[in-house]
Amino acid sequence: MHEERYLTFALAKGRLAYQTLELFEKLGISCEEMKDKKTRKLIFVNEEWKLKFFLAKGPDVPTYVEYGAADIGVAGSDTVLEENRNVYEVLDLGFGKCRMCVCGPQESRELLLHHERIRVASKYPNIAKDYFYNKKHQTVDIIKLNGSVELGPLVGLSEVIVDIVETGSTLKENGLEVLEEICQLSARMIVNPVSMQMERSRIREIVMKLQNER
Ligand code: PRP
Repeated sequence: MHEERYLTFALAKGRLAYQTLELFEKLGISCEEMKDKKTRKLIFVNEEWKLKFFLAKGPDVPTYVEYGAADIGVAGSDTVLEENRNVYEVLDLGFGKCRMCVCGPQESRELLLHHERIRVASKYPNIAKDYFYNKKHQTVDIIKLNGSVELGPLVGLSEVIVDIVETGSTLKENGLEVLEEICQLSARMIVNPVSMQMERSRIREIVMKLQNER
């Protein structure tokens, strides 16, 4: 591949980025520099394929893609749903599997059953709002937190939380449980709509190769 223009990828920092790079390596696309954990570099280039990669905070990935600063992004479907940006979701990468759930102490089960006006703490206020208002038709107060959301019910901030459950060990260690499941989650590839038009054949080639590898 020797196209002129670079295709730029925004990858959600952390485990998803490493898993994405592993998948790319299976296609023969490698980026050695990016694997060096000590590097302070922000943008990495693969000259052979004319690709650029950069790491961003998960919730910022759909923003970069919507504005075309990245042609393609990889982020969790939790982030894609929460940010609700104007991007095309083209591929479920099949890793980073977990669940979005309503969690809390056993006692909160009753409050959910009776559609009580409860407080819901979450890093995902839009997903929480959509679930309670549009799917369950339950009026709740949503409180946005930025992490360690399990603290909510433990310190009396909220009755329940809406959060990601992977192994369930954070809940278990804090005496909380899954009360309702909202949806399954996994890593997704998203594409800028203009890039999809302009670079359709290159993007399709990459998506098809990834589809066959995963
Ligand atoms: C996530 C999530 C839960 C935990 C779930 O938190 O918000 O707290 O992982 O994983 P588990 O079911 O395997 O225990 P993260 O580590 O991203 O940190 P945060 O709480 O600061 O968001």
